[in-house]
Amino acid sequence: MRSVTKDNITEVFTSYFGEGTDPRVKEVLSSLAQHMHDFAREVNLTHDEWRMGIDFLTRAGEITTPERQEFVLLSDVMGLSSLVDMLHSTPEATSSSVLGPFHVSNPPPLAIGGDMKRDFEGEVVLVEGTVRDTEGNPISGATIDIWQTAPNGLYSSQDEDQDIHSFHGLMTADENGRYAFTTVRPVEYTVPSDGPVGDILNAAGRHPWRPSHLHYIVSADGHRSLVTEVFPDDDPYLDQDTVFGVRDDLVMTYVKQPAGSFPEGFALSGSVDDAYSRVDFDLVLAKA
Ligand code: BEZ
Ligand code: FE
Repeated sequence: MRSVTKDNITEVFTSYFGEGTDPRVKEVLSSLAQHMHDFAREVNLTHDEWRMGIDFLTRAGEITTPERQEFVLLSDVMGLSSLVDMLHSTPEATSSSVLGPFHVSNPPPLAIGGDMKRDFEGEVVLVEGTVRDTEGNPISGATIDIWQTAPNGLYSSQDEDQDIHSFHGLMTADENGRYAFTTVRPVEYTVPSDGPVGDILNAAGRHPWRPSHLHYIVSADGHRSLVTEVFPDDDPYLDQDTVFGVRDDLVMTYVKQPAGSFPEGFALSGSVDDAYSRVDFDLVLAKA
């Protein structure tokens, strides 16, 4: 088509696809163009606003390094990462949630009953549960990769005072699918907001806080890997997670246990006299 107008430009775009274009590429790009064009028409996008958008993407590219992915953070705060997760979740399985940038490769092994708290200050939290399939069968040998913030709100990769393996551990569930460990209560923290994504949050009058959480990646042969998180039900940011990661089935009560009741079978058994909290969190994996 020679005469392109504001009303036919989407159709013209679609007519430019070459023969033999992969049908999925065609479907995704056509829809993307349709929504972009509709968006520009709907808000009557100005040149200045278009330039701000290009400048934003340029700055996001400039700040992105192997350690900092501003485009993923943009997807997170716009709700796209969570929406893609939810589109592909299995209703009978545990909900998935955002991965975030603070997972480390090669986490240290953590035995069942092991401890991640080490010498950090704070109340002991005992976390325990079973990994099972959607029919309720325990998944023996499932691996559970766990990570969280230290009590100062920083992940090990953000904090020179922690070694890289601090608050990271890789556990293998036993023959009954059981996993268990002790840690310290994670705290709420802010996503990186000193870059262009922070500017968007500011412009929208939004805060950068996430409710406190434990991260998990659960894997087992023949099952879909699960990237998820568990949140305490009394966190002040539960209803306003800046990356939209909270799902009903991921919110658990940290149940207070009286002093002197810490059980046997844990690395900390015999050394915890005070009250502690307990979280029971079962993990249900969908078949691959
Ligand atoms: C996190 O939970 O670690 C996280 C998730 C999304 C963006 C930044 C951090
Ligand atoms: Fe996190």
